[in-house]
Amino acid sequence: VTTCPENILVQPDAEAPPEADHEALCVTCGHCAAVCPEGALQHQGFPEGSIQPLQAELVPTSEQVIEMLRARRSLRVFKDKPVDRALVQQILEAAALAPSAHNMQSTEFVAVDDPAALAKVTDLTAQYFAKTARQLRNPAVKALFRLAYGRPLLDGALHMLADFDMVVEAHKNGRDLFLRGAPCILVAHAPDSVPYPEANATLALHNATLMAQALGLGGFLLGYVIGACERDARIPRFLGLPKRRRVRSALALGHPAVTFQRWMRRRPPQVRWL
Ligand SMILES: Cc1cc2nc3c(=O)[nH]c(=O)nc-3n(C[C@H](O)[C@H](O)[C@H](O)COP(=O)(O)O)c2cc1C
Repeated sequence: VTTCPENILVQPDAEAPPEADHEALCVTCGHCAAVCPEGALQHQGFPEGSIQPLQAELVPTSEQVIEMLRARRSLRVFKDKPVDRALVQQILEAAALAPSAHNMQSTEFVAVDDPAALAKVTDLTAQYFAKTARQLRNPAVKALFRLAYGRPLLDGALHMLADFDMVVEAHKNGRDLFLRGAPCILVAHAPDSVPYPEANATLALHNATLMAQALGLGGFLLGYVIGACERDARIPRFLGLPKRRRVRSALALGHPAVTFQRWMRRRPPQVRWL
């Protein structure tokens, strides 16, 4: 009764079993069944076999969690070796366990491991950034940009201009700084109709990142590709994204060709308590 996020279970009489009220609001999170000490709850959203006991002894300790987080680094140097699709499946299963707003579980993925398709994603991303850099140098476009998005956003884009030039130039010279030669990418997409689609996708891909790390793989978030997908329909179209779904995040995956031996402190958390 207390754990249901939608207040669906009611128990006016403490001696009587709980009853379901306004069931239509149920988000099928399963908290009711997960928490019941007697395993007495049945829920039509969870067919036979879909509720399993937790193995508490396998849950990592705080020391193990912090060490795993210290060990996680963006990996950008990959062995020339494909990622087994069975491992990608394990990674996607970890992604599917991520929280999502209203438990909508709307994030879906396109997994790409075909070298020609990966090269196409890189090419389209490079084309997008070459065009963006050209536009940011055009006074008329700059003025329009400022009118549409405001000065701070324009300044931010101009600040990135040297970076855009650098990655485009590298691409021309045969060096891929967009995918960095990753043999596999996961592109997360979701419709506009759900709340917080980017947050959902990013959480899912962070789960994926941690699982990849545990499986001896690595990767990095594909910021350039995500940015290109946001403003240029060609990559989502090439990936065959269903209508009304948009790219929300993307992750490169591969076998590490380097090993991180040390961890470094980050900027201490800045917090103001109220
Ligand atoms: C939203 C987002 C986008 C990113 N995009 C890229 C990218 O396009 N290319 C890249 O090499 N790294 C990218 N990164 C990785 C960051 O550069 C990296 O997380 C940061 O430098 C800290 O390093 P670490 O991940 O190894 O701890 C991205 C990270 C985030 C969170």
